[in-house]
Amino acid sequence: MAKEPKLIAVTSGKGGTGKSSICYGIGYTLAKQGNRTLIIELDFGLRCLDIMFGMSGSVQYDLGDVLNGKKEILDACTHVPTASNLSILCAPKDAFMTVTAEQVVDICKRIRKYFDFIIIDTGAGINSHVFDIVEQANLILVVTTPDPICIRDATMMSDEFYTRGNKRQRLIVNKLSKKDISSHMITDLDEIIDKVGIQLIGVIPEDFALKEATGKGTPLSPEAPSLMAFDAISKRLTGEQVPLVIK
Ligand SMILES: Nc1ncnc2c1ncn2[C@@H]1O[C@H](COP(=O)(O)OP(=O)(O)OP(=O)(O)O)[C@@H](O)[C@H]1O
Ligand SMILES: [Mg+2]
Repeated sequence: MAKEPKLIAVTSGKGGTGKSSICYGIGYTLAKQGNRTLIIELDFGLRCLDIMFGMSGSVQYDLGDVLNGKKEILDACTHVPTASNLSILCAPKDAFMTVTAEQVVDICKRIRKYFDFIIIDTGAGINSHVFDIVEQANLILVVTTPDPICIRDATMMSDEFYTRGNKRQRLIVNKLSKKDISSHMITDLDEIIDKVGIQLIGVIPEDFALKEATGKGTPLSPEAPSLMAFDAISKRLTGEQVPLVIK
């Protein structure tokens, strides 16, 4: 288990790649593996973590209350009932509220002794605001799908981090479809990794069970292929050697 909490930013160039779903899945599996985990949602005005965990009615406070000074950080976090080690700090409902990188770092510093992992779900898009925040992380997880436009955007994002001197990046390929998992799949995966130019940490299959669970806020089935992929990624994040198995 990590001595210092690992601050992990999940980001992508293009929107809709699955960043929030990945925060949900990795957050859940890290917690189930015994790590005290917090997910901070920075997608202002577009909160979704509460729905994903089936908690839309039970989230009383959010990051906005912390930024406004109305609540202490830990008091604004909500425990996820399905995973005892997991909490979420939801994005403010107010889309016009802003947060600076300094504020995010300060929040993480103040609560780091309570968590082994703090995962930051960034909003979509390449802008300097996202870069400034993501750069503070110990590890950046760049998410792409096999879609060529998405790969190009992930490459741009990753190149920009490299230009800024940030080499702590890992790639997640999400929504790999059954069609992709054909005889040419390995070549395709290699191509994606070569194009983006960062080391792969995991591949998540396209999984209707994940879409359904996060959409309805119902638990993800233990047999769901995506859950196995999240579990493997979480183990790799804690330093375990887990072979890449694609289902
Ligand atoms: N592995 C997957 N299999 C099937 N559907 C997925 C998978 N990952 C994500 N999705 C679906 O893709 C859509 C977008 O996912 P999600 O909201 O997690 O993306 P995002 O990158 O956070 O989007 P945004 O950029 O808007 O914040 C959702 O409908 C989600 O259920
Ligand atoms: Mg999102």
